[in-house]
Amino acid sequence: VNGFDVVVVGSANLDLVATAPRLPHPGETVLGHGYFEAPGGKGLNQAVAAARAGARVAFVGALGGDAAGELLRQLLVDEGIDVTAVAVVDAPTGRALIGVGDDGENSIIVVPGANGRVNADHVGRHGGVLGTAKVVLCQLEVPLEAAERAFQLAGPETVRVLNPAPAPESTTDEVVGLVRLADVVVPNEHELALLGGVEHLTGVGVAHVVVTEGARGARHVHGDHQRRIAPLVVTPVDTTGAGDSFCGVLAARLALGDPLPRSLEAAVVAGALATTGSGAVPSLPRWSEVERHLSVGS
Ligand code: RIB
Repeated sequence: VNGFDVVVVGSANLDLVATAPRLPHPGETVLGHGYFEAPGGKGLNQAVAAARAGARVAFVGALGGDAAGELLRQLLVDEGIDVTAVAVVDAPTGRALIGVGDDGENSIIVVPGANGRVNADHVGRHGGVLGTAKVVLCQLEVPLEAAERAFQLAGPETVRVLNPAPAPESTTDEVVGLVRLADVVVPNEHELALLGGVEHLTGVGVAHVVVTEGARGARHVHGDHQRRIAPLVVTPVDTTGAGDSFCGVLAARLALGDPLPRSLEAAVVAGALATTGSGAVPSLPRWSEVERHLSVGS
């Protein structure tokens, strides 16, 4: 069957970004020096990252019938992403209020809106596309049942990748059940701690745990084996979307047939490059840029 390389099930937001010398503490006001709006949302970012890395991508999500929804839909289409499974619902398009400090660190409040409608029923209507995908990629910015259903509908040959972001508030049975359905789980260090650590994940049967470690690169744990992937050293401007760049490129390269170690090298490079520009989608690299930084023949 001629399916998509990567099917992403997830959120789409309009990001409202304020830049400031530093992030405010609770109760504090700081004066900012810039403002812009850009497409975002972990699902949309990962779909765009995968498409820019050369994959044929379909997105399963929901937008409001408003100007933001129209802008995000157009962006997906412009990036060559299939939007057949993108519903227009009677809720506002998701918004993310993002503060970015001069050191590139951020803090984000997401108001899900339409993303809340990406539920098991919606995903269940797209079983065909999930069953024939090479990779199904999910995050936790839509109801958890969406990711669960997506992984259940994935085909026997499909690689199921879970980026457990944003971090779940607590590790419920539902979270553990979802994690068990994934072949590859990609948390950052904070998310990993909330999920009980690497041993816990491998203990419940996750074949591959990939921990993203920011400026220190990444770590791949497979059973008793552990491998570090060295970072690409860059000067970060805005870290928003770095994890999404990593996950999208990892999914794309796996789907295109690159071995996991090579795909991880590409993902680390793509994550680093995404921090060198402002905004999530605007800073997602194209494959030619990623390739330039990859070691030859490894
Ligand atoms: O991962 C970055 C993303 O998180 C932003 O684009 C924002 O929309 C939030 O979902």
